[in-house]
Amino acid sequence: MRIVLPVAAALAFALVATAAGLAAAHPSLKATMRDWKAGLATLQSQIEDGKSYRAADVALLATRIGDDAAAISTRLHGAGPRAADVKQRFETLAADVRALADATSRGDARARFEAARATCIGCHDAYAH
Ligand code: HEC
Repeated sequence: MRIVLPVAAALAFALVATAAGLAAAHPSLKATMRDWKAGLATLQSQIEDGKSYRAADVALLATRIGDDAAAISTRLHGAGPRAADVKQRFETLAADVRALADATSRGDARARFEAARATCIGCHDAYAH
């Protein structure tokens, strides 16, 4: 997947993140995000390649991303509706990827992968524009 963040949008995004208490809560957020991007690319190829699809491989990686997202959410204590919204979005992502980890068929995995990806994009859209 590709997340395009123009410089100005990325800056606005970072400011919102700071306002929401995100930066303080998770200083390595950028590194985590990059790791997630790579993780999603791997998951997508695991799911799309019918011959090598293995639910256990998908579950391993999806669970790791879910644990990250849940850990970030736990550390967010910012006040205000925006902070609450950001926290909720990380919880939604955790639920999405944990559902992906539980998928037993490629068809389910594909749909659940798309739901998780939509949650990534939803947060970026909400705070980048
Ligand atoms: C709840 C909000 C939220 C969710 C959900 C979210 N992100 Fe992000 N993402 C951010 C914020 C905030 C930044 C900007 C961080 C910064 O500039 O410090 C960011 C930045 C990024 C970046 C750019 C990192 C860089 O090098 O500057 C990538 C890539 C990324 N996210 C991928 C993902 C992926 C993949 C997912 C889903 C698995 C995801 N994000 C889910 C909020 C979110």
